[in-house]
Amino acid sequence: MSESVIPVPFLDLTAQFKDLEGEWLEAVRASGARGSFILGPQVSAFEREFAEYVGVKHAIAVANGTDSLVLSLRALNIGRGDEVITTPFTFFASAEAIDVVGATPVFADILPDDFTLDPESVRERIGPKTRAILPVHIFGHAADMDSIMELAREHGLAVIEDCAQCFGARVGDRVTGSIGTTGSFSFYPTKVLGGYGDGGMVTTNSAQIDERIRRLRNHGAIKPFIHVEVGCNSRLDEIQAAALRIKLRGIDAAITGRRRVAETYSRRFAGTAVRGPTTRTGDAHVYNLYTIRTARRDQVRQRLTDRQIGSSLCYPQGLHLQDVYRHLGYQPGSLPVCEQATTEVLSLPVYPGMPDAHIARVCQTVLDALD
Ligand SMILES: Cc1ncc(COP(=O)(O)O)c(C=O)c1O
Repeated sequence: MSESVIPVPFLDLTAQFKDLEGEWLEAVRASGARGSFILGPQVSAFEREFAEYVGVKHAIAVANGTDSLVLSLRALNIGRGDEVITTPFTFFASAEAIDVVGATPVFADILPDDFTLDPESVRERIGPKTRAILPVHIFGHAADMDSIMELAREHGLAVIEDCAQCFGARVGDRVTGSIGTTGSFSFYPTKVLGGYGDGGMVTTNSAQIDERIRRLRNHGAIKPFIHVEVGCNSRLDEIQAAALRIKLRGIDAAITGRRRVAETYSRRFAGTAVRGPTTRTGDAHVYNLYTIRTARRDQVRQRLTDRQIGSSLCYPQGLHLQDVYRHLGYQPGSLPVCEQATTEVLSLPVYPGMPDAHIARVCQTVLDALD
């Protein structure tokens, strides 16, 4: 097969799986032998190790990232009649969680360089019904947390960090998920810390929030068959926790592997019409996605497809313009920075261990498309 037709997948999860398969299957067998499958010793150990990595007092494992947002909002008693300010440039779940608890998402615009919430746009939208800010650390880079925390303090608001795409990213010496009132994580398999199924985590320094989420995730029960409120079933299983514990031990190497790919891309694109991701001074990016920006995005994407190279369009439409939110009254032009980004962004393949030849093919194809 000639070099030009070697397909380049957007993501290859198989290599990482092979590395930990034996250890994981052993842990699965041990869970079976113990007869412990949900919220057992693997989950408790994972919660402790996770809290230590992120630098928080409490970590509560739940069934997925969406639930980690919903349960954070519920633990803060946010619901009907309340507003939560968030970004329109994110996966739908960030806003969906706000609707699920009965509150209303209010969309603010984003910053053009790193696609995270623009604190000035947030400030303009704070009103009497605002209860919280929900910044999303998109693609592996933290939102401007210093400014967001300052705004929250000024107005007495909670901050729910959506860390689904940025496990391990840093703001100075703090890890994302340790800065706001709560941090919310997804272990969907494509994430920086991805499992072999669904999973999620809430982090917090508040003992009250910890206690409430532990209760909510298990049908509002304080002990077997004694329920003090309506909760839900959002429990993590032992098999997921076992895989995630193994992966957590190797996470720094995995992040370094992502950074190596990102740095190679950025070197090749420097001085061209392609704008690579930026990192705020003092912060550390984990490149859950490597998202470029170019006015000729559709041309580049077509060329990648023609050469059998995977890419992803995150995101093709701001959430404020999605049909589901028509009733909120946003119009094209309401959030111009976000809307411009949706016409220019394209995410390129990035994962630990991505072969050099694949990285080179991606770079060459992107640059050829712009000639
Ligand atoms: C920014 C963001 N928030 C929330 C979620 C929801 O996570 P999950 O799929 O685990 O429910 C995702 C998942 O892709 C995400 O990217």
